[in-house]
Amino acid sequence: MTLLGDFADIFFILLTVGRCRLSVRSRPYNLNQSANSRKTQIDVKSNTVRQTLANYFSHKLPSGGLNWHIRAFLFNKQWEVLKHSVSKQLADWKVSNQTLLLLGPSAGWTLPKHFLNRFSQIEVMDLDPLAKRLFCKNHPALKHKLQWQQTDYLQHLPQWLGDPKNANTPLLFCNTLGQRGLHTESVEQTLADIANLQQWLRHHSWGSYHDRLSLQLPVRCNRYSIVKELCNRVSAVQQTGTLPTEQLLSLLKLHELQGINGLPLEVTDHCTETLLPASAPRSYSVWPLSPRKIHIVEMGFSNVKTPTNLLHWE
Ligand SMILES: C[S@@+](CC[C@H](N)C(=O)[O-])C[C@H]1O[C@@H](n2cnc3c(N)ncnc32)[C@H](O)[C@@H]1O
Repeated sequence: MTLLGDFADIFFILLTVGRCRLSVRSRPYNLNQSANSRKTQIDVKSNTVRQTLANYFSHKLPSGGLNWHIRAFLFNKQWEVLKHSVSKQLADWKVSNQTLLLLGPSAGWTLPKHFLNRFSQIEVMDLDPLAKRLFCKNHPALKHKLQWQQTDYLQHLPQWLGDPKNANTPLLFCNTLGQRGLHTESVEQTLADIANLQQWLRHHSWGSYHDRLSLQLPVRCNRYSIVKELCNRVSAVQQTGTLPTEQLLSLLKLHELQGINGLPLEVTDHCTETLLPASAPRSYSVWPLSPRKIHIVEMGFSNVKTPTNLLHWE
């Protein structure tokens, strides 16, 4: 039975291989440059077969899909540092509702079971047609609690947030908003989407973990020493209030890291500096995404006190 199930999964995955492959070229963030000069360009590559299948599934998945799951499957073990930090922050998140809404959780590769187990119902919005099946593989105990919508959360959130039955349901953006730039054609559009979200969410309790910066490592360098050094540096950053990118860069002392390794680092700004409300406490973590990519991830929460959850607040 298990073997049959695995074959079914592989077949399902192969069917979805044909998604459009988008490669995003981001102009490296020159460490001496102002934040306003960032530019992102999207370059769509496809061939006929891929395009046909992509049209069949009618979703282009710049930040999820098969590539993402293969990467997660291969490198997941090295993501412990991020997973530990996400788990720790979520354990302290004071939400008392029975229902939770997850936005862009994919297969829940980085989501802690103990946190998800707290809820009796978990609503999900994710574009990726593979995500639900793989999520159930990664979190089998949650299968019966899931209400899954394969949909664009930016389109559906205004209506969902306006529904009185969702008034006290907390929302968690799962490592998705830092990749908004992969879905838009300009930095301005990314910033506008993020500003809109903030407006929509102002009466709700919500949290997010998202990329702030990513570092592209040169081929020959000691990745482990860089990850270790960055972990030391981010663990010291406990911030209430917006941490401007320039300040984050100087706290990380990337110039020194360049010096240590004697090789250049390419840094990309993910345009999430103003994502969390100015007053929200936040913390930072290191995500060694793949052998040559390290991300700096920010996590924070915006808690709204409503009459029904007031009693549960500290
Ligand atoms: C990097 S993955 C998230 C990884 C996830 N935290 C995990 O633990 O596996 C980003 C996810 O966000 C989803 N996504 C991105 N933009 C979306 C949107 N506008 N609406 C719904 N899902 C979206 C993608 O389909 C993808 O599954």
